[in-house]
Amino acid sequence: MIDAQTAIAAPAVTRREDYRPPEWLVPEVVLDFDLDPARTVVKARFRVTRNGDHAASLKLNGAGQAPLAVLVDGVAVNGWRQEGDDLLIPLDGAAHVIETEVAIAPDSNTQLMGLYASGGILCTQCEAEGFRRITYFPDRPDVLATWHVKMTADKARFPVLLANGDPIAAGDLADGRHWAEWHDPFPKPTYLFALVAGDLAVNRGTFVTQSGREVALGIWVRAADLPRTDHALDALKTAMAWDERVYGREYDLDVFNIVAVDDFNFGAMENKGLNIFNSRYILADPDTATDYDYDAIAAVVAHEYFHNWSGNRVTCRDWFQLSLKEGFTVYRDQSFSADQGSAAVKRIEDVRGLRASQFPEDAGPLAHPVRPESYIEISNFYTATIYNKGAELIRMMATILGPARFRAATDLYFARFDGTAATCEDFVSCMEEAGGVDLSRFRLWYAQAGTPRVSAGISHDGGRATLRLAQHVPPTPGQPDKQPMVLPLKLRLFGAETGKPLTDEQLVLLDTAAETIVFDDVVERPVLSINRGFSAPVIIESDRTAADLAFLSAHDDDPFARYEAMQQLMLDTLVAATVEGRADHQAVIRAVAGTLANPALDRAFVAEAVLLPSESFIGDQLATADPDAIFDAREALRRDLGVALAAAWRAAYDAAGNEPYAYNPHAKGLRRLRNVALGYIAASGAADAARLAFRQFEAADNMTDRQAALTTLANSEWDEREAALDIFHYRYADNPLVLDKWFQTQALSTRGDTPAVVAQLAEHPDFTLANPNRARSLVGAFSVNQRAFHVIDGSGYRFVADQIVALDRINPQTAARLLPPLGRWRRFDEDRAALMKAELERIVATAGLSKDTFEQASKSLEG
Ligand code: TRP
Ligand code: ZN
Repeated sequence: MIDAQTAIAAPAVTRREDYRPPEWLVPEVVLDFDLDPARTVVKARFRVTRNGDHAASLKLNGAGQAPLAVLVDGVAVNGWRQEGDDLLIPLDGAAHVIETEVAIAPDSNTQLMGLYASGGILCTQCEAEGFRRITYFPDRPDVLATWHVKMTADKARFPVLLANGDPIAAGDLADGRHWAEWHDPFPKPTYLFALVAGDLAVNRGTFVTQSGREVALGIWVRAADLPRTDHALDALKTAMAWDERVYGREYDLDVFNIVAVDDFNFGAMENKGLNIFNSRYILADPDTATDYDYDAIAAVVAHEYFHNWSGNRVTCRDWFQLSLKEGFTVYRDQSFSADQGSAAVKRIEDVRGLRASQFPEDAGPLAHPVRPESYIEISNFYTATIYNKGAELIRMMATILGPARFRAATDLYFARFDGTAATCEDFVSCMEEAGGVDLSRFRLWYAQAGTPRVSAGISHDGGRATLRLAQHVPPTPGQPDKQPMVLPLKLRLFGAETGKPLTDEQLVLLDTAAETIVFDDVVERPVLSINRGFSAPVIIESDRTAADLAFLSAHDDDPFARYEAMQQLMLDTLVAATVEGRADHQAVIRAVAGTLANPALDRAFVAEAVLLPSESFIGDQLATADPDAIFDAREALRRDLGVALAAAWRAAYDAAGNEPYAYNPHAKGLRRLRNVALGYIAASGAADAARLAFRQFEAADNMTDRQAALTTLANSEWDEREAALDIFHYRYADNPLVLDKWFQTQALSTRGDTPAVVAQLAEHPDFTLANPNRARSLVGAFSVNQRAFHVIDGSGYRFVADQIVALDRINPQTAARLLPPLGRWRRFDEDRAALMKAELERIVATAGLSKDTFEQASKSLEG
């Protein structure tokens, strides 16, 4: 229940159906920043033109600042008024020049939206609606201007001045200050505006585009971080070449700069020609970054670079179209990463991520379509659904069209919508037109929330196999009834006796509620391999037996399907164990043994395949998740696997050998398997496990091995545990990104005392909510630790709610993003549900709560 007072204060809802084109356009803007952390003066001068026949005033969005001056065509006017945070200026005529002046205080900007200070660097974050915190302007993505930006600042404190586009002039002033001017010729909306001022060092590179233009690249960081920037620079060059080769997309300015800052709400931001990054997605060297970090850096650098076309050259008409740029760009970065190493392992990782975050979102109170219908705070819609399910939609269209027609369709899209603000519908139309397909029913994927469930059953009679497929899309908040979707399902049949394929791989487009497919000349009992490559983002329910799944895990020729069969086998076993208290582990043990013993398989693939499904994914299969029973069932299977296959784990562990560190797919695969093996050796209770882990911790020449050993130690009851944590903290005391790992490893610990340890860590001198990475490393990590967060006394829920309320006062956007785990209360038993709900009610009733957190908490109570 929401009390009356809160209900009255409930913030306004923005609806997709209310979209109207802008009444005034702004072809050009000139900004002048007098930069000072305590008081920055922003002068804006821009031309406005009336768009269509109407009498509406010019509306400029603001965020609490008061205008120091407003001029129209060079004359100070008083006719303007403020409506809420916005400024309304009545205008006659078709075109005018507007000038405004405001003062803002970057130093006290703790929300990290607009112009703010991070470790002495002044930087901006404007997506989605941060620009209004800088100056008055139509802060909407369908108003595209060319920008001219002048910055003036103290030269000693801010020797480097960067903005979008190309640098055009710079100079010194007599008073120790200096200035620079930048011009961006490509029309862009406010959310892509950026500037940076600071004492930065640069790692420079060059890239020659396919048409022979030379682009100056720069990765800008604090001087001490410069040795950790080579990997990001390499990734950038690789991404630039990839986008030319795969999509025909060439870079368009003479410079491309990336700046890394420590305080950042998200991963990174694609500002035109001046990407700004969370330092965790730039800085890497073997001693401080894991293989996972290296991969994530390359993926995010590529993602932001790819936005130059899918986001910047073609942008979004309104924020309901967010997946137009994000879903497409995630698909592009996933394809890029797949091309850098093992495509199969990349697909497994992406599907695991989808199941860990998007499926639960789609099944819970915050479920929303890929193209939402309404929002209170747009920042809350930078979700796994918009990004990752959105990417699956693009992938399905690519599958339906095939590579050549998909490329023709993206060419058409870029050509037709270059320089404009487009919609998801525009993208799908191009797919249809250039692909020569009818996607009218496919469009439901943009409108309907919820993960489709597909049941698949195969029967065999004489020489004929009959496959029965049926689909069902579950109800989601506001969408009780669903229509059948278009599901591209790749499938193939294998012979149960011979192990031979009985058919080729086929692409079935299931677009009705139920369908029957008949296969003739099927001479032996068929085993169904379905949703190969995870061709559709659905849940498959099949009647395949443990024997069928074990068979596929050994014989399927599609690596993803092989992985999937093993996961399903493990999942079935763990679900049975959770519900019944015990289960037969033998089928899983045999399948894992077979996979470990197969020398033909890539080690990284083996490491993925032998990992048990996560506790939360097991919980998602159950009507009511019981975290303690799930934990016990999973630990029991881990122990049995550890004991039964002890020799194989030792062999996998030793195979990684003592070769010096190298970063390449082969070496990464060996490390990954070695560390999975270490986990199983520890789970087996082997007498030397503690010694092994501690030796690895001390001897490691890279962070992948060191952090994996620390994780094993942190989960253990061994004496070496405390020593390892202390050594790690001491060794990396001056590296905030590694300290995040120290907090995170403890927050994710499987030990029983984790809730108490985490509460203590929140009081540690190195802990602060003001830095989003640090807040997430403790509170975010703890809230996905199923055993600890869901401790039956409710202390985990109370802790997270307290942190959310405290963080909401500093940084609402980051606070709201920590809420979804509490919002999943309906998934748990009555006692836990009541405790979680009580915390949500307490959050909603908090005086002065932001609309960000209000939206997430109130929807979690209603949904
Ligand atoms: N467009 C950014 C990306 O996908 C996301 C982003 C960066 C963002 N900063 C943000 C979204 C702040 C919301 C708020 O790469
Ligand atoms: Zn993006």
